[in-house]
Amino acid sequence: MPNTLQAYRGSLLHFLADPAFSAGPNDSHVWHEDGLLIVADGKVQAAGDYATLHATLPPGTELHDYSGKLLMPGFIDTHVHYPQTDMIASPAEGLLPWLETYTFPTERQFEDPSHAAGVADFFLDELLRCGTTTAMVYCTVHPQSVDAFFAASEQRGLRMVAGKVMMDRNCPDFLRDTAETGARDTEALIRRWHKRGRALYAITPRFAPTSTEAQLHLAGELARSYPDTYIQTHVSENEAECAWVRELFPNSRSYIDVYDSYGMLRPRAMYGHCIWLNEQDRVRMAETQSAAAICPTSNLFLGSGLFDFERADQAGVLLSLATDVGGGTSFSMLQTMNEAYKVARLKGSYLPALRMFYLATLGAARSMQLEGTIGNFAVGAEADFIVLDPQATPLLQRRTARGVSLEELLFALALLGDDRAVAATYSAGRQVHARVMT
Ligand code: GUN
Ligand code: ZN
Repeated sequence: MPNTLQAYRGSLLHFLADPAFSAGPNDSHVWHEDGLLIVADGKVQAAGDYATLHATLPPGTELHDYSGKLLMPGFIDTHVHYPQTDMIASPAEGLLPWLETYTFPTERQFEDPSHAAGVADFFLDELLRCGTTTAMVYCTVHPQSVDAFFAASEQRGLRMVAGKVMMDRNCPDFLRDTAETGARDTEALIRRWHKRGRALYAITPRFAPTSTEAQLHLAGELARSYPDTYIQTHVSENEAECAWVRELFPNSRSYIDVYDSYGMLRPRAMYGHCIWLNEQDRVRMAETQSAAAICPTSNLFLGSGLFDFERADQAGVLLSLATDVGGGTSFSMLQTMNEAYKVARLKGSYLPALRMFYLATLGAARSMQLEGTIGNFAVGAEADFIVLDPQATPLLQRRTARGVSLEELLFALALLGDDRAVAATYSAGRQVHARVMT
């Protein structure tokens, strides 16, 4: 059924460029205190000033009034594990014991398609409650976990990227594929799901320690055969993990060089964490347009380390923010910004709120080569947007009551906000979440 024209009034914010690399303070974004977003057939038809635009609306157009609230593109979480939803906040002394103790037994359950379907439903609803409309998602080693995820995503009409974890060593037998079955299952899933509706496929070797060279080779071949698919994996997250990679791949220049040698540094490749990189690694990422997913809540929780924004920016690496649930401790991209800000401070950098909102929207879309499709209100972009409420909690209300600048308003939302600050979420122009006030 074709969507009729819909119009949304509110304070409108979206990005055109990275605030860190823009000439003037107002060149990076579009801000209309009293704005109007016009949506036709699930796409942005216009975004601008209410006073100018409302006269263009045909008589009888439905006008949704979100005055006093912010309309902005939906958040994009570029690294998250849906099967780890039920084990969020599981304590362990670092990444490797956490994987052994909690992650692998939890992921085993996704052999059962009905379990996978139930978790996928909860996970997607949780993302939407938090204002996240697109994510790059790890499934488990089981192909049925991917089918369950994409089916749930298709039902909600979401733009999602996901893939089957490939791992053929250094993991329990019950989660192990082989180089051949991993590649065969991945190829079948690409054919079944990539570009079906809004679904996009990511070739997903878990991380170098759990793949043999034969598996990495086949993953690289798939990445070459299907150049418009995504690649996602973990790199340089934790010092013990990096030492393990040095032992397993003694001939590689560095951890990311392992992936590089199999042709996995390319546009649409998303590398989770990227903490313990060296200069040459960053240069290789930038020149191949490989992207870094920054996972601050996870890196603090597991004690993995602090992402170096300054060095990444010097090299020109594509950046975005990610929750990395269940290593991450919140599904909220606002809470992810809160922790990213503090990580930057500890590294002697400074992350303005405008930049954090850029990284969670257009920055992620650019990292995924999806600018023009999602991430801002460009004419013709898919109308995935959220309504943020600066009065969502008594404290937010008090903090934002007096005249605050846009930067201060966004900063308060990032530091004090979470799912409660998301009044509504829309995907392709359809409301997929509306907050229930208690
Ligand atoms: N490295 C390999 N697997 C994982 C995982 O599931 N979570 C995190 N945070 N790091 C990993
Ligand atoms: Zn992860």
